[in-house]
This record gives sequence, structure tokens and C-alpha cells, in this order.
Amino acid sequence: MKYALLLAFNAALAASVAFAKPPVDIEPPAPTAEIKASRATAQQFGATLKEALQQAVKTGGPVSGIEVCHGQAAQIADKLSTEREMLVGRTSLKVRNPSNAPDNWELAVLKQFDARKAQGEPVDKLEFFAVIDDDQGQKTFRYMKAIPTASLCLSCHGDTIPPEVEAQLKALYPDDKARGFKEGDLRGAFTLAKPVP
Ligand code: HEC
Repeated sequence: MKYALLLAFNAALAASVAFAKPPVDIEPPAPTAEIKASRATAQQFGATLKEALQQAVKTGGPVSGIEVCHGQAAQIADKLSTEREMLVGRTSLKVRNPSNAPDNWELAVLKQFDARKAQGEPVDKLEFFAVIDDDQGQKTFRYMKAIPTASLCLSCHGDTIPPEVEAQLKALYPDDKARGFKEGDLRGAFTLAKPVP
């Protein structure tokens, strides 16, 4: 009897997890063009940012890195958006810049990433995609890829932020929530969108 109950509970849990998953498999046998393009774009965005950040921190310390994240991140995103013909950005459950705040769909996906991480999935493998109707009723392909927290990120997003970085962050982001992260935490996600004809 107990076992049957447990089975029923497991089935209910599986159903609720299945509900949170996309209508297609997470790893379909043959990724569609949109999925392939999204993976490549997210990968390029991440690599370009990390390289610029590493370079800036190496030559001018973490304060120079702020300029990369503050100004260059948006420029890189704009450039990629034009080149790849898809909207490219970053978001998080705890944002530094309020303009990166998630919309409802992104919020649900970020929470789903958190839950999947808690179940043991590696953060750097978490992705999700779906075709949804946007606010204007436009069919849109949307894709998100999780961003793990690396040690490089901690001087600006960790528990102990150097005073000179702290001063800059306070001036630029009075409502900063993007701190207190530890290595391996889910820092946020790349988020991509492309209208579907
Ligand atoms: C030198 C300081 C600095 C370092 C190091 C840094 N960041 Fe940031 N990060 C920022 C700033 C400043 C912003 C706000 C950018 C903006 O205005 O859009 C930001 C924003 C973000 C965002 C967008 C969401 C939000 O909070 O607004 C993500 C995601 C992010 N950082 C991830 C990372 C990751 C991952 C690393 C390590 C690989 C990292 N950051 C390293 C300063 C830093």
C-alpha cells in the first residue's frame, strides 16, 4: 500500500516535471536550425564577453572589468543581434541592471533551471527552448542557456567585493541584487528570441 502511494506520488511528480519541460525533447535527435543557431550565438556571446572581461581585469583590475560588463556587454549583444537576426541578452533571478530583469517566460525558465540544478543537472548544460506567442501575439522562438558562476566572476558578484569595485557598483547600480554568488551557482542565463514567420 505504501509502495503504491509512493508510486502515485512519483507519477504526480513526474507529471509536474514533464509539464515544466518543453513540448519537444531537450536533446532532439536533429536540432532545428533555430536551436543550432541559438546554441552557437549563446556560445559566442559568452566566449566574447569572458575574453573581454579577462583581458580588462588582467590589465586594469576588476574596476576596468566593470566597463566591459556595463558598456561592452550591451554592444556585443547588439552586434550579435544584428548579425544573427535574433534578439540577444542576459537575464537573472538576481539582476544588477534592472533592464536585464526577466519577463514572465524568462522567470519561469530561470526557476526551472534552479530546480533542475537542485536535481543534479550540471549548470553549464542547462538549456530550454519553446515557440510561444509574445505580448503582441507574434509567434516567437525563444531559447535560454544557463550561465554558471566562475571564480572570475566573484570579485563583482561574490560575497566579498573589493572596496574600489563596491564604490563603482554603488554609483552605477543603486538597486544591485547580483551579489552573494558562489562558484558553480546559477548566475543567470543568455536569452535569445527570434520571430517565427
Ligand atoms: C568587473 C566586474 C564584473 C565581473 C568580474 C563580472 N561581472 Fe557580471 N556584471 C557586472 C556588471 C557591472 C553588470 C551589469 C551590466 C549591465 O549594466 O547590463 C553585470 C551583469 C551581469 C549579468 C546580467 C544580469 C544582471 O545582473 O544585470 C550576468 C548574467 C553576469 N553579469 C554574469 C557574470 C559572469 C558569469 C561573470 C564571470 C564569468 C561576471 N558576470 C563577471 C560586473 C561584473
